[in-house]
Amino acid sequence: MANLADKHIVLGVTGGIAAYKAAELTRALRRSGAQVRVVMTRAATAFVTPLTFQALSGNPVHLELLDPAEEQAMGHIDLARWADAILVAPATADFIARLRIGLADELLPALCLAATAPIVLAPAMNRAMWENRATQANVRALERRGVRILGPAEGEQACGESGPGRLLEPAAILAALAQLWEPGRLAGLSVLISAGPTREAIDPVRYIGNRSSGKMGYALAEAAKAAGAQVSLVSGPVALPPPAVDEVVRVESAADMYRAVLERAERCAIYIGAAAVADYTPTATAPRKVKKTAAQWTLTLTRTQDILSAVAALPNPPFTVGFAAETEQVEEYARQKRLAKGLDLVAANRVGAGQGFDADDNALFVCWSGGETSLPLAPKKILAAQLIALIAERYHGQNPA
Ligand code: CTP
Repeated sequence: MANLADKHIVLGVTGGIAAYKAAELTRALRRSGAQVRVVMTRAATAFVTPLTFQALSGNPVHLELLDPAEEQAMGHIDLARWADAILVAPATADFIARLRIGLADELLPALCLAATAPIVLAPAMNRAMWENRATQANVRALERRGVRILGPAEGEQACGESGPGRLLEPAAILAALAQLWEPGRLAGLSVLISAGPTREAIDPVRYIGNRSSGKMGYALAEAAKAAGAQVSLVSGPVALPPPAVDEVVRVESAADMYRAVLERAERCAIYIGAAAVADYTPTATAPRKVKKTAAQWTLTLTRTQDILSAVAALPNPPFTVGFAAETEQVEEYARQKRLAKGLDLVAANRVGAGQGFDADDNALFVCWSGGETSLPLAPKKILAAQLIALIAERYHGQNPA
């Protein structure tokens, strides 16, 4: 369970149907040792009464920005100074928009403006509202400012629809929150990550590719950065915005990725091969577009070099982590792959039927020499943070300070 002993958490509750879940979150925060002060927006009080949060948090609930009595008890500036973190759960689309433009039209957004403590948002809203470009642009802008976004999870919604928009479970929120105070686990270490698919050219216009979206690799790069590492990301072609890491190297083919990774691998402490590298590439690439004159076309393919095995076989290899995507016998194949490629750790997931590639959620089976564990289905960003924590633990186990 997350350890938040004596941390001062301001829990902001905004006006959505998931506001009732903030009650459970308040209890979980207190159980993990945190001191909690709840700030509700006016809209939130339409869903849950302040008295509920007062009873659960053990403190008066803060509602008004301009109420002399409240300001005297603990004004918004005092509350901002008191907070070790501000967690807004649920965060509605409206609140996210207000935070992005810096409004201070009631207590909670004013508090966020005045605070220097980290701000963490757990969004919850209708699927279409979450996917709307306005909300997505607001979320990305806040992330660039250092606001952490947890979730939302996918699933059935109060409005009857299904998709991304559910508030994350309290345990996942707490685990992510606790990580705010453990940023140094990879401090001073350089981490190299490969992500996304590769494209193997058939001719100037056609290529062989795969379904990888790069989401997991990008989430790992961000999580490694958040854990204090110096991060280089070698990425195949993806549609994701570049993460805020130290170096992003864009490549296209498996051969390009091999070169970019091997050039850097000897200088890094940890290599994570999250890319879906093509196993085969056309033996010859046609210099001009191939015209469709023949009734059949047979392509001859040649095996690509295995980047992961090459990194693991270096004279001084980094701590090497591989991925395995399997449709069956996930655990057995993962164990075999770790031994066959000489890896320190393997993270395996089941693919096919809506799982794995391009999905926002994932589940992993992880094995290393002398141990294994399962990380249950969660958004890739949460899973990435958990996997980075596990990698850091194994790395330090092998390389004691
Ligand atoms: N990998 C790599 N270089 C390649 C191919 C794969 O570095 N040319 C890495 C991937 O980044 C991933 C892992 O190897 O970390 C995947 O293992 P792989 O053996 O390629 O998995 P499969 O393609 O599923 O292999 P198999 O069909 O043998 O199960």
